[in-house]
Amino acid sequence: MALAFTQCIEETCGRKQDPKKNAHQCAYCGGLLEVKYEFDPFDPEVLRSAWHQRRLSGEPIDRSGVWRFRELLPFVRPDDRIISLSEGSTPLVGTRRAGWWAGPVHLTIKHQGNNPTGSFKDLGMTACITRAVSLGVRVVACASTGNTSSSMAAYASRAGMKAILFVPYRQISAAKLAQALDFGALVIEVGDTFDQAFHLLREIAAEMDFYLVNSINPFRIEGQKTIVAEMMEQRAWRPPDYIVVPGGNLGNASAIGKGLRELKELGLIEKVPRVVVIQAAGANPFYRTLATGSRELLAVDHPDTEATAIRIGHPANWKKAQRVLEWTGGFCESVTDEEIFEAKAALAEDGVGCEPASAATVAGVRKLVRAGKIERHADVLAVLTGHQLKDTDYVMRHRSSEQECRQRLRVEPNLEALRKALESVLAVPA
Ligand code: F0G
Repeated sequence: MALAFTQCIEETCGRKQDPKKNAHQCAYCGGLLEVKYEFDPFDPEVLRSAWHQRRLSGEPIDRSGVWRFRELLPFVRPDDRIISLSEGSTPLVGTRRAGWWAGPVHLTIKHQGNNPTGSFKDLGMTACITRAVSLGVRVVACASTGNTSSSMAAYASRAGMKAILFVPYRQISAAKLAQALDFGALVIEVGDTFDQAFHLLREIAAEMDFYLVNSINPFRIEGQKTIVAEMMEQRAWRPPDYIVVPGGNLGNASAIGKGLRELKELGLIEKVPRVVVIQAAGANPFYRTLATGSRELLAVDHPDTEATAIRIGHPANWKKAQRVLEWTGGFCESVTDEEIFEAKAALAEDGVGCEPASAATVAGVRKLVRAGKIERHADVLAVLTGHQLKDTDYVMRHRSSEQECRQRLRVEPNLEALRKALESVLAVPA
């Protein structure tokens, strides 16, 4: 069994520590922690074949797209109770129009919206709640722009825990809020921004001994990193040139980088794709920081974007994500809400739906190809992080105004009126 410990990511510190219950920061310098292992030696072929075989198994733990790769998660002991909702195993979907629109590039979508609660958060949550159970935790908490909270609410319910979520007042989509309520979570609406809610939660969680499941909890990152093993397996272990993700609190980019690093170290991939992070222009602290070469985070105090999932101005994991971009030769780009809308429409033409934050990836690819930073015809894998139905208000705002789209007409209930209405719409060239 591999040895698991946590280690501070700060170069000036780097101290190893025993994973303690609520230790999300280094006990010595306050830096971020990551879970590390001394892996037993593996034969890559044996491992690949074991993972492949498990796909045929009926066991819930083998059917999960996270726990199927459990050799990468050796913090779990054999007698631990695994809290799974059959997460992962999400599809890779090719594109035609969206790839043409964005490049042209060979654009493939890894659709994380096809998870039990409709977002990539389920991968991290199964690992984190499993860890919480092993620690005897009774109350879990997170601050959220909506997806972490619905995921936490579902997995906490399954584990028999109380879930408390802190969300900025009226800033998260109704669908995400409804999910959390449906799973019986306690919802605290506090502050105007995610950052404010998160700050307050961190203070109160320490005081009241809530187990924090935000992505600063390094066990969240452990679950989320398995997306890389799954996508590589789906691609017959041939890495793409680029993996593109939207950036909010920057846990996902950190997780993908960690996954790539471990697969490389274990001899499962040879080439490492560049990791590219896309932020919304009104909430782009990471982009600004890297663009100016600042050593400190250039936070955004009043983040503003219609892509509410990534409306974050003080991303907690920025240092981890920065290391990932440095190590993989990746970069960060920033796109406007208009560009996000166009990208979402381009994906829709391929029959692919997603929430706005997810479409930022494809908007970013287009911008980067135009800037000559991504080559035309490159092999690009975009991670769509959330389901189309996560934010239907957005669609209704953009798609149902009669003047703009002529997609939605109210017609008097008689044939004459119907004929007239249909003819007027169909006469307009598409
Ligand atoms: N896409 C979606 C749909 C998200 O919900 C989030 C983050 C991101 C992208 C960004 O991922 O934070 O790892 O960089 N949502 C969090 C939440 C913050 O609370 O649901 P990140």
